[in-house]
Amino acid sequence: MDPSISSIFNPKSIAVVGASKTPGKIGYEILSNILGYGYGGKVYPVNPTANEILGLKCYPKVSSIPGGVDMVVISVPAKSVLDVVEDAGNAGAKVAVVISSGFKEVGNVALEEELVRKARSYGMRVLGPNIFGVVYTPARLNASFGPRNVIPGGIAFITQSGALGIALMGMTIVERIGVSSIISVGNKADVDDADLLQFLADDPSTKVVLIYLEGVNDGRRFIKVASEVITKKPVVVIKAGRTEVGAKAVASHTGSLAGNVVVYKVAFNQAGILAAHNVEEAFDISRTFANLPFPTNEKLVVVTNGGGAGVLVTDTLAEYGITLTNPPQSLVEQVRKLVPPFASLANPIDVTGMISNEGYVNSLLAALNNPEVGAVLGVYCQTAVTDPTMIAGMLISKVKEMGGLNKPLAIALIGGEETYMAIKRLNDFGIPTFPMPERAATSIASMYNYLRMRESVISRLKELS
Ligand code: COA
Repeated sequence: MDPSISSIFNPKSIAVVGASKTPGKIGYEILSNILGYGYGGKVYPVNPTANEILGLKCYPKVSSIPGGVDMVVISVPAKSVLDVVEDAGNAGAKVAVVISSGFKEVGNVALEEELVRKARSYGMRVLGPNIFGVVYTPARLNASFGPRNVIPGGIAFITQSGALGIALMGMTIVERIGVSSIISVGNKADVDDADLLQFLADDPSTKVVLIYLEGVNDGRRFIKVASEVITKKPVVVIKAGRTEVGAKAVASHTGSLAGNVVVYKVAFNQAGILAAHNVEEAFDISRTFANLPFPTNEKLVVVTNGGGAGVLVTDTLAEYGITLTNPPQSLVEQVRKLVPPFASLANPIDVTGMISNEGYVNSLLAALNNPEVGAVLGVYCQTAVTDPTMIAGMLISKVKEMGGLNKPLAIALIGGEETYMAIKRLNDFGIPTFPMPERAATSIASMYNYLRMRESVISRLKELS
């Protein structure tokens, strides 16, 4: 892997070219985010018309910064970008994060090619152009003009779309989804998904990589790298432009070729990539991988207080190739003591709508602590005899007492306002919790799906070696 790629995530110093004193201008907001999110390295605003910005000494050029810099964030109009790159290259910068639009996406192909040629001639890599920046939470780096206070966690999010990416950045904060990184790749003139995947594969803070993808420049390399990465951690892709009209929309957005939908499907499957059907599902699955250990065996047990919701998750799991089998006898005996006599002790275990808070939580814990159970899916429908916030609180303290989860537990809490408060609490704690049964079922099913795909990719790679 090119060592310059790691400077995208862990730069020792950053220059913001086009830094501005004017709040609301992109160059101001990026500098403000870098400082406000707590980046610990050296930061230099660059603007020939200012002496000081946000309390920092301002430099007229990158080459006038004593000691040089690793990363140069460029937020000046496209026509000035090449001069900045030339100057930064001379000053020994390792990576240029080019925020500016006005390149291939509007037909300026030659300008974009020249940008990369020039940067590479100095050994510098280019992220972008046409991007909102980069975030890497382990380094407290937020060199973007998106929201500032992203939550640290295990998801690396690579996005080809800028505005959608920024919006989803905000969504992660509201939904309590932790990220290791958010990388806007825009036109992918130089650094692409494969380069980033190679870094993220060995990044200990990243548990799962989530990519919003419109198209790839080098499909073969992407698939080769992705299949190597998925032997280490899951890769979830939301592929935009899956229909003919969608593909046309992609061409006019980032200038990428969306490619043939069937080819993508086959290639993703072969590489072991999890293809999400929509953005919501992509984040649900990724949140689950980021927070949970892998199933310890094939036996998935569902514990529900609502028969209908139990049927819905059974259907969803079956659609993902998971058939629920009877719970272990030892678990049946334990749960029998906690539930009304008319409870159904099959799988799903239906503890009935009459169950108390304690009864529901203890049934879940019995399943979690049973050595023959590999993963647990909790499904709860709000009733007048239970309180979802109490259930969340009890479950959190019991899991804390256990020293954390040693097998996956995903939960669906379905109901009114209190369930949403409980969902937030459980997600903050790290138990993936969803407001609909199918979302929880899809998330846990994806873990089994990933393990299956990983096994077949590993054996195929072995055959090839
Ligand atoms: N070196 C250093 N500073 C320079 C410079 C140079 N070569 N050329 C200009 N500047 C300064 C300007 O004087 C200005 O500073 P000021 O605010 O103190 O006057 C600042 O850099 C910004 O330049 P300006 O000409 O005001 O541009 P802008 O801020 O209006 O727009 C971009 C710059 C990059 C934001 C704009 O061209 C652009 O591409 N916008 C789209 C960005 C985008 O959407 N990206 C994709 C996101 S998904």
